[in-house]
Amino acid sequence: MERLLQVKIKLNLVEKLIGHKKIKTAVFISGKGSNLKNLIKFSKTKRSPILISLIVSNTTLAKGLKYSKQFNIKKKIYNFNDNKVSEKNILIFLKKNEINFICLAGFMKILSANFIKKFNGKIINIHPSLLPKYKGLKTHERAIENNDKFAGCSVHFVTEKLDSGKIIMQKRIKISSKDNPSSLARKVLKVEHKLYPLSILKIFN
Ligand code: GRF
Repeated sequence: MERLLQVKIKLNLVEKLIGHKKIKTAVFISGKGSNLKNLIKFSKTKRSPILISLIVSNTTLAKGLKYSKQFNIKKKIYNFNDNKVSEKNILIFLKKNEINFICLAGFMKILSANFIKKFNGKIINIHPSLLPKYKGLKTHERAIENNDKFAGCSVHFVTEKLDSGKIIMQKRIKISSKDNPSSLARKVLKVEHKLYPLSILKIFN
């Protein structure tokens, strides 16, 4: 353990001396992109180990695509009419752009085992529940229906099993008796914006 710590400190020192190189990262979205916006802002800070240099979406309707123009970040859309073809083209494009890390943020397509293998251990996702509870969709509805006391969010590594990879960080919040699925979604989203950057820091530090 001590030895590992020494190696880490040495590496940090070397990085400081030669200048820290941020890891080129793509964010995959399908919707509003509030997590994307938040990650872009985080990635511009000095302490961020990642640099968001690409936005990928499966639909031109994703509102979050507007952040491409706002922050001058390349965007690419793949329609996923044929998953295999889209994934093949994405992989080529990621390589061309030297992308080494992927953050899924409200991306509504399920990536294939082959794609995940190619990016082994380098894809993470944010999910709006306290995993392993409520994998998949309608997480807030289900938490309220079940009279849960707590809801929350999880950041996890992506494996071929949906929402089942190793959890990096989780944060829980109380569900109030007045909450409905949309008020709860809003509350959880606020927490997501804190948790995603913290999870990235945890992975790389
Ligand atoms: C978030 O709640 C995220 O956890 C889920 O989809 C939502 C995306 O929101 N996977 P946004 O597009 O980042 O605003």
